Amino acid sequence: MTNRYLVKTAALLVGVSALAYGAMASELTVVPQPPDFPAQTKVQYVDGSAILEYKALPEYHEPSWVTKQFVDQKKLPPVKDRLPKEPMVYKTGNMPDGVGVYGDTLRHVIGGRPEGWNYWAGQNQGWGGIDIGLFECLTRTGPLFQVKADDLQPLPNLAKSWEWSKDGHKLTMKLIEGAKWSDGQDFTSDDVMFYWDDNVLDPNVSPLNGATQETFGAGTTLKAIDKYTIEWTFKDAFPKQFIYNMAYGTFCPGPAHMLKPQHPKYSKNTYEQYKNAFPPSYMNFPVMGAWVPVEYRPDDIIVMRRNPYYWKVDEKGNQLPYLDETHYKLSTWADRDVQAVAGSGDISNLEQPENFVESLKRSAQKDAPARLAFGPRLIGYNIEMNFSANGWGDPDARQQAIRELNRNEHFRRAITMATNRKELGDSLVKGPFVATYAGGILSGSNFYDRQSTLYYPFDLEGAKKELAAAGLKDTDGNGIVNFPAGTAGGKDVEISMLVSNDYTTDKSLGEGVIAQMQKLGIRVVLNAQASKDRDAANFGGKFDWSLHRTQAELASVVQNTPQLAPTGPRTSWFHRANNKNELDLMPFEKELADTINKFVISSDPKEQAELIKQYQKIYTTNVNTVGLVEYPGALIINKRFKNVPNGAPIYMFNWAEDSIIRERLYVPAADQGDYQLFKDMLPGKPGGDGPQK
Ligand code: GLA
Repeated sequence: MTNRYLVKTAALLVGVSALAYGAMASELTVVPQPPDFPAQTKVQYVDGSAILEYKALPEYHEPSWVTKQFVDQKKLPPVKDRLPKEPMVYKTGNMPDGVGVYGDTLRHVIGGRPEGWNYWAGQNQGWGGIDIGLFECLTRTGPLFQVKADDLQPLPNLAKSWEWSKDGHKLTMKLIEGAKWSDGQDFTSDDVMFYWDDNVLDPNVSPLNGATQETFGAGTTLKAIDKYTIEWTFKDAFPKQFIYNMAYGTFCPGPAHMLKPQHPKYSKNTYEQYKNAFPPSYMNFPVMGAWVPVEYRPDDIIVMRRNPYYWKVDEKGNQLPYLDETHYKLSTWADRDVQAVAGSGDISNLEQPENFVESLKRSAQKDAPARLAFGPRLIGYNIEMNFSANGWGDPDARQQAIRELNRNEHFRRAITMATNRKELGDSLVKGPFVATYAGGILSGSNFYDRQSTLYYPFDLEGAKKELAAAGLKDTDGNGIVNFPAGTAGGKDVEISMLVSNDYTTDKSLGEGVIAQMQKLGIRVVLNAQASKDRDAANFGGKFDWSLHRTQAELASVVQNTPQLAPTGPRTSWFHRANNKNELDLMPFEKELADTINKFVISSDPKEQAELIKQYQKIYTTNVNTVGLVEYPGALIINKRFKNVPNGAPIYMFNWAEDSIIRERLYVPAADQGDYQLFKDMLPGKPGGDGPQK
């Protein structure tokens, strides 16, 4: 039999069975090929080892004003004594424009607001790259977008090397030796252990970005061997994947000398007091990052100055960063695009399609201050349904009834069939950018396989039949289906959908979904909240549905891999354990979790690729989430900056603010702007007024 014949027969069979059951519904179909779009830039791929190394250099340099005003005045030790024994050295060959010069400012605009500096107890600093720049992590993944796939592993950072035991259950990491916090205190394994023991493992503390023990594998332990050595013990052999989770945002230790005295275990503080011990107005909070917060004006700006103890240099021995100052203007996310394009801000992740056309037009002009470059399609939106039917988030009767519906395959099929993705896409932006998203791995990911990505094309009549099959009928004739008598009082099916109101796109998609569900006979009401409250509701299980921008793992797969499925009691975004730590997985979720667990311990790239194909098939055929749309983002950055790597996606392993390695950016002397608010000043004492001269 030829292949063609087989295909035809299969098509016939499908046709027959559809007829035989009288089904009109749309069939599971491979998702369409996403259209090409203009202005996508090419990445220059390198080996991981080409980017950086650790070594002592014959001499070190710093800005001359630091030497004159601080070192010569005995306010600061000489630069060689402020650096570690072997600093991290960025190789010139990997710098797009080579060794840089000091000066100038990187002006960010952000839509968030700082809650305080205690990242480890769950406080956010307003996002937009601010925390990424403050807190350094054991490993680093953002820049991996430029590393060849066959050479892929996380870059070293605070952990400068690691080694597996023969049996693969122990991983020994060497920390950078002699590096200091920005206030001059030693960074050691004490900082690492305080983060692990008293934050990650303490059930009363929820670090930002959600690190838990399972992030590193159920049962995983960590101990300090000496001041600069730590040892992990894992239940499985060689779970190399967890090294990715030691990067941003789940293993970035804080300064134990500041935090420990405030922690309830070592003080009279409550957990709430611990969390709030360092409000946004607390200046010069010690960091390992390149810049230190020195000024905060509510709803206006956060200013950071260079960290005199930063532990990274270039090959000429120049202490980084090159840029003396960074700004985070406190505005909105949409304004970030506008300001970057206009030149009053310096950088933006163009991620809201509503702004694409205007931004493209303005940056195409010859005298445009900023360049704009699109990356692959790595942003998508899902409706995540709360799959817990055993108590996560304490549902009332109506909420419980919704959870049961969410777990009903006919119901999920009805929702996905009633979703008109073309219409949702067109409501954001016309043109070739937005594509159909079936949920799961995004099409811009290296792990994407279109043939394994299935969905139910739009079919409202078919959707209604599926709804009936789920037991829902409009018994009172008001256009909205009712719960069966005996469930939730037989009332109208009304679903509350959690969305962030910080982004136009989230709200536009939310409105679109409401209108489309109305036609199906389901009433959806928006529960729009500031992102931080949205996240709290999400982590607390207090939602029916959550409309969510895709997370890192759906783009990179290798980053935060355990979160791709309910592999542990608290790894999934929409299905977590109840307060007895019980997880009521449906059979297909169990399959998803098993597939991901296999992936985590596999060291064969071919097998891993195959496992993700299986994952994607199980995910999309079972409608694990209702994928809506996916599209590319563009990095907008002012033309005066050098060392911006080509083709940096705004989001792959991490956000662009990490990927472009901001500590290496510089502005040639002739192009430098007059933007520094605290020229020739350095951070002052922790808790002090601000910068010092
Ligand atoms: C927000 C922004 C993103 C990115 C991240 C960084 O989520 O929307 O573009 O800047 O912050 O954390």
